[in-house]
Amino acid sequence: MKVVVTGAAGFIGSHLVDGLLADGHEVLGIDSFVDFYPRATKEENLQSARDHRRFRLLEGTVQRLPLAGALDGAGQVFHLAAQAGVRSSWGRDFELYTEHNVLGTQRLLEAAVEAGVPRLVYASSSSVYGDSPVLPLREDSPCRPLSPYGVTKLAAEHLASLYERNHGLPVVSLRYFTVYGPRQRPDMAFHRFLAAARDGAEVHLYGDGKQTRDFTYVDDAVAATRRAADSGRPGCVYNVGGGQRLALEEVLRTIEQVTGRKLQIRREEPQKGDMRDTFADTAAARRDLGFRSTATLPEGLGRQWEWIRSRR
Ligand SMILES: NC(=O)c1ccc[n+]([C@@H]2O[C@H](COP(=O)([O-])OP(=O)(O)OC[C@H]3O[C@@H](n4cnc5c(N)ncnc54)[C@H](O)[C@@H]3O)[C@@H](O)[C@H]2O)c1
Repeated sequence: MKVVVTGAAGFIGSHLVDGLLADGHEVLGIDSFVDFYPRATKEENLQSARDHRRFRLLEGTVQRLPLAGALDGAGQVFHLAAQAGVRSSWGRDFELYTEHNVLGTQRLLEAAVEAGVPRLVYASSSSVYGDSPVLPLREDSPCRPLSPYGVTKLAAEHLASLYERNHGLPVVSLRYFTVYGPRQRPDMAFHRFLAAARDGAEVHLYGDGKQTRDFTYVDDAVAATRRAADSGRPGCVYNVGGGQRLALEEVLRTIEQVTGRKLQIRREEPQKGDMRDTFADTAAARRDLGFRSTATLPEGLGRQWEWIRSRR
């Protein structure tokens, strides 16, 4: 089957591409190599795909590329391209977030309708929820994003459901909860913590360390993403979370155990836009996507540690 993956050179997108190629699909990747982190890192992510004869890369943004030819004949489209990162979404850079996340999604949805794409999966985020007094977060919990990034991810999710309702485009949205593992983006906490452990550098911990997160190992996020294309219900939104809620200070202790190194922690002010707690109710994903979490945090962190160490 021909499959299109936007954001193919990114952290999650490149794992998805590798899995699709391994299963015999023909993959067209789309990526504009936005400079949020170095192109060289993304080229590394794509290294094995680039050598594959069933892989093709179209370089450019989803909002500017002529998408008709790209989507023609595609059996599934996975839309992961986005300007990621909560903290940098304030201020002038918000323009980038609206361009890539909102306009980019709208252009892709239009093109998908034109091409008659049979299934589209949109990568949304737990950031759409904001802080909630009630945990775990269910798909029908109120969405009050705390960051401009979360606002753009929610806007794109609404666009996806509009196109499903008005044009019958079979779109499924997934709200990923903090994905980690090899190739994790360099701005993300586990990457920064493990790199600091490797380099003997200080770890910057924002807030009191008691904020909690639900973490998802990347292979599990990719499996849920692929199942969403096969068996997700069009128009539905699914939480994708590892199912274990841990305070950041507990994560730091786990990192010390996994790496065998003592971290030098420097406490910093909490960052605007960071949620206090995240915890996913994954009943819907378990029921419709057969989702389950396969990696424990020490296992997943161990694999990310091996990766971080291999690329000093
Ligand atoms: N990593 C997480 O924990 C997490 C959590 C929630 C949601 N998400 C969502 O999952 C998706 C993938 O996240 P990631 O962590 O792999 O990010 P990433 O930054 O590693 O990957 C995104 C890729 O999209 C590309 N891109 C950005 N805008 C584009 C555009 N307009 N056209 C074409 N390519 C474009 C970038 O160059 C990048 O390679 C994103 O949509 C993100 O919002 C990620």
